[in-house]
Formats: sequence, structure tokens, C-alpha cells
Amino acid sequence: MRHKVYILVILTYPLMKAIIVKPPNPGVEITEINENEANNYGKVKIRTLYNGICGTDREIVNGKLTLSNLPKGKNFLILGHEAIGVVEEPCCGFSQGDLVMPVNRRGCGVCRNCLIGRPDFCETGQFVEAGIHGIDGFMREEWYDDPRYLVRIPKTLEDIGILAQPLADIEKSIEEILNIQKRVPVWSCDDGTLNCRKALIIGTGPIGILFTLVLRTTGLEVWMANRREPTEIEQTFIEETNTNYFNSSNGYDKLKESVGKFDLIIDATGADAGIIKQVIPLLGRNGVLGLFGFPISGSFSMDFNAIQDAIHANKVIVGLVNGQKPHFQQALVHLASWKTLYPKSSRLLITRTVSINDEKEVLKVLKEKEHGEIKIKIVWE
Ligand code: NAP
Ligand code: BGC
Ligand code: ZN
Ligand code: ZN
Repeated sequence: MRHKVYILVILTYPLMKAIIVKPPNPGVEITEINENEANNYGKVKIRTLYNGICGTDREIVNGKLTLSNLPKGKNFLILGHEAIGVVEEPCCGFSQGDLVMPVNRRGCGVCRNCLIGRPDFCETGQFVEAGIHGIDGFMREEWYDDPRYLVRIPKTLEDIGILAQPLADIEKSIEEILNIQKRVPVWSCDDGTLNCRKALIIGTGPIGILFTLVLRTTGLEVWMANRREPTEIEQTFIEETNTNYFNSSNGYDKLKESVGKFDLIIDATGADAGIIKQVIPLLGRNGVLGLFGFPISGSFSMDFNAIQDAIHANKVIVGLVNGQKPHFQQALVHLASWKTLYPKSSRLLITRTVSINDEKEVLKVLKEKEHGEIKIKIVWE
């Protein structure tokens, strides 16, 4: 008698460590996933070296960012949009050992801005953002990417290069603001610089500090504000970059009395939207109020007087989001120049590194900001 023999083949994929979230629900885990469960984007094989933690990551982890979504057909999202990795195998113009950073927002493939590499101005709204919105991020052992989305990081910037991603968002924002101000027949000062222009930055997190550094490098006079006294590290930034500081715990009236109005105000807090109403009276004629932080509560309104004033005085309120490849490149130029211009601040930008193997600590810093923190870097080893 003959028997039929059935052979069961079970395909197994290698496992890799990854940090995952399940938006819109709060929570974060470090877990092992099958490599085939993760989104990949091209042929360049990259091993993760560092991830940065952004205020946006914490808003996702704490279930506060309504704009965060799972990838299609999946029940988890790999977190992380700030990453530096090393190319593992020569491919597509990259050599083994090259350091690269991924561009996090990727285009809809349809609109003209996305087709020319500027999904920061996507017209359909169908773009995706690694680790935030619709595709997996880079808090994982490795990923495959398309050279179009990779920025080379010079080895001399391996220490602070992780800041090129958040800084790219700021470079794009300042480029946009300077373009907006081209509407004013003369916005430069008597000597052709921007030294007479005053900017107010609300919030002293990494975003507030990077805005300050770029604006000081661009020549504007800057006030940073937070509702407390500056930390020791913030004090070093303030002194070295010759920036002013305002404690806003009692509101902004005193600042208006002592300094007057501002040409540029940026909300870099990610706090309550009520802040916007508080600072609108400080915005000067022909001024720009940039909304950069994602408020997590509240609302703001403008009464008819404030609206009349905005009309009479050509005021602009603008949403500012996301940098693309040219802005990553400009960010690297600034990071390199600050090593010379602001050496003490430059050394203080990374406040701490945490090993991915110290899982308890990684989860802690993903949930909550530390006192005195600027940027925490997760190191994959
Ligand atoms: P962060 O580390 O949480 O920093 C927020 C800062 O704002 C902290 O210094 C905080 O003070 C301060 N703050 C909170 N409430 C305040 C208030 N009422 N008045 C003044 N200051 C206040 O966050 P981050 O990484 O710098 O990011 C800031 C925001 O930008 C987040 O919402 C993030 O999602 C967003 N973001 C947007 C983009 C974009 O493309 N638009 C890009 C990156 C990030 P303490 O230090 O005392 O807590
Ligand atoms: C990222 C930006 C992104 C924005 C909106 C930020 O944290 O750094 O590149 O466009 O969040 O999701
Ligand atoms: Zn970010
Ligand atoms: Zn688009």
C-alpha cells in the first residue's frame, strides 16, 4: 500500500528588535518582530546606529497626536523619524560604511510638489511620514531604503548629526518665513542685514533652541520664552548666542512693555492652544506668527479688534511643517558651522545617550521628557 507524504514548510523570517506604538492608543513597547512585518522602501540596506527622540514621538506615545496613523493593513507602527544608520552593503551609489539619514516625509506620488521632491507642500494630503503617519519609522535594527530619501551624514558630524532631521523642519520654516517677508518692500535693516528684526520663540525644547540658533546665525535679535527660569544648559545657550530670555509665568505684558512688538513669533511648545491668543498682541506691523508646535489641548479665538488690527497691519499667521532634502543639507551646514560659532552650545545639544539594551530607560525617556533635556539619542549596539 502506498502512503501520501505531506511536507509542511513553515517559512520563518529573521526577527529584529523594534520600538512599536499603536496610535491613536497611548503606549509603547520594545519587541521582536518578523523582518517581513516592517515596511521597507528600497534596496539600500541600512543598520540603525542612532535614533533621536522628538516631542512628536512623545505625543504619539502618550496618545495625544491626532495626526498619527497605523500603516495600511497593520496593527502597529514602528516609531522613530530621527535616525542615522550605516550602509551595510554597497548599493546604488552608496559604499559600505557610509552614514545616512532618512528623509521622513514621503510624497503622494500624484501632486506636482511631491513629484519634485517637496512633499512638505503636498497638495493632496496623501503623503506619508515614517514613524508618524502611515508608514513604519526607524526605531528598529535595520531597514531598506531608496537613495532618493537618503541624506549623507559626514563622519565629522556623527556626534550631533541626528539633529539634522528636526533642524531640517526649522530650515524649511525659516526659508518660508523669509519668502513670506519678500511681500514687504523693505524688510532688511539700514545696513542690509536682519539685525534690527526681533523674534520671539515660545518654548525652549530642542525645537525652540534650534530655531534660536538658526535665527541668531541669520542675524535676528531673539527672545526665548518659557513659563519658568532657564535651566543651566539653557543659560549657556542664552549667553553664548547672545539671546534674551523671558519668564512668561505671569503672562507677556511685561515683555510688551519692555521690548515692544515682535517681527516674528514662533510657537514651539506643543502645549495649550491658548498660548497663541496670549502672544498675538505682541505681533508687530507686517509681522509673522508661525505655528510650529502641535497644540495638545485648548483653542484660541481672535475678536474683531484683533482681526481689524491684523488686516490694517498686514499680519500673517502661518502653519510651518516638515523639511525636505535641501533643508537637511542646509541643516548639516548649520550644525558644522555652530561647532565653531557656538562651540559650548554645540557640545550641549545632545544631553544624554541611552543604549537600546537598557529597555526600561528607553521606555522611560520615550514617555517623559527629562529635566534639562535637549536631545536624547538612543544608541543601537
Ligand atoms: P518639547 O521637548 O516638549 O519642548 C516643548 C517646550 O515648550 C519645553 O521647553 C516646554 O517647557 C515648553 N513649554 C510648554 N508649555 C509652555 C508654555 N505654556 N509656555 C512656554 N513654554 C512652554 O518638544 P520639541 O521636541 O521641542 O517640539 C516642540 C513641538 O514642535 C512639539 O509639539 C512637536 O510635536 C512639534 N514639532 C513640529 C514640527 C513641525 O514640522 N511643525 C517638527 C518637529 C516638532 P518645559 O521644558 O518646562 O517642559
Ligand atoms: C517631524 C516633521 C513632521 C511633523 C508632522 C515632526 O515631528 O519632525 O518632519 O512633518 O512632525 O508630523
Ligand atoms: Zn520630529
Ligand atoms: Zn502630494
